[in-house]
Amino acid sequence: MNGLLIRPMVAADADRVLAIYRAGLDGGDASFETVAPTWAEFDATRSAAHRLVAVDDTGAVLGWVAVSPTSTRPVYAGVVEHSVYVDPAARGRGVARLLLDALIAATEAARIWTIQSGVFPENVASLALHARAGFRVVGVRERVGRHHGRWRDVVLLERRSAVID
Ligand SMILES: CC(C)(COP(=O)(O)OP(=O)(O)OC[C@H]1O[C@@H](n2cnc3c(N)ncnc32)[C@H](O)[C@@H]1OP(=O)(O)O)[C@@H](O)C(=O)NCCC(=O)NCCS
Repeated sequence: MNGLLIRPMVAADADRVLAIYRAGLDGGDASFETVAPTWAEFDATRSAAHRLVAVDDTGAVLGWVAVSPTSTRPVYAGVVEHSVYVDPAARGRGVARLLLDALIAATEAARIWTIQSGVFPENVASLALHARAGFRVVGVRERVGRHHGRWRDVVLLERRSAVID
């Protein structure tokens, strides 16, 4: 996509980031969450590092990616869980792929060795995106949580960096 730029997320992006998050949740296949958090909640639960947005040539935010730690145990210090969301109007144009590639580069530079995510099996776009970006399917967690009153499976994905020993 022409004119697309990846840059760090800043507090001034909050409204767009949360609106894009909300649109993803409203689609019904993005997350067990059903309502978007406040900015304060988002800010408190995502790592300060490795929060990125994709902007177009007018500066409009089209999508974002962010990570959270998976554990407080030192052995897992290099293992993060990520979320990636793209404005419905900007999907299918490579925005998420650019965000993921930038996230992979940034996390590898920070010596983070594994990125993981849980994806609903019905989320074919996310499964395709992650497969293309080098994630593998660890397995399928069966009926692991309820979403709008219905038990749902989750596909656990991970990407182990090949450059961090
Ligand atoms: C999943 C999501 C982030 C993909 O964003 P996107 O910007 O449309 O994805 P891209 O255009 O970068 O596509 C990346 C790859 O996935 C493939 N893909 C994207 N959407 C697809 C779909 N609906 N069906 C099949 N493949 C698809 C693309 O073909 C592309 O592969 P290619 O490079 O070989 O062409 C977007 O659909 C979204 O925001 N969904 C709601 C939130 C969500 O589910 N987030 C993930 C939570 S785990």
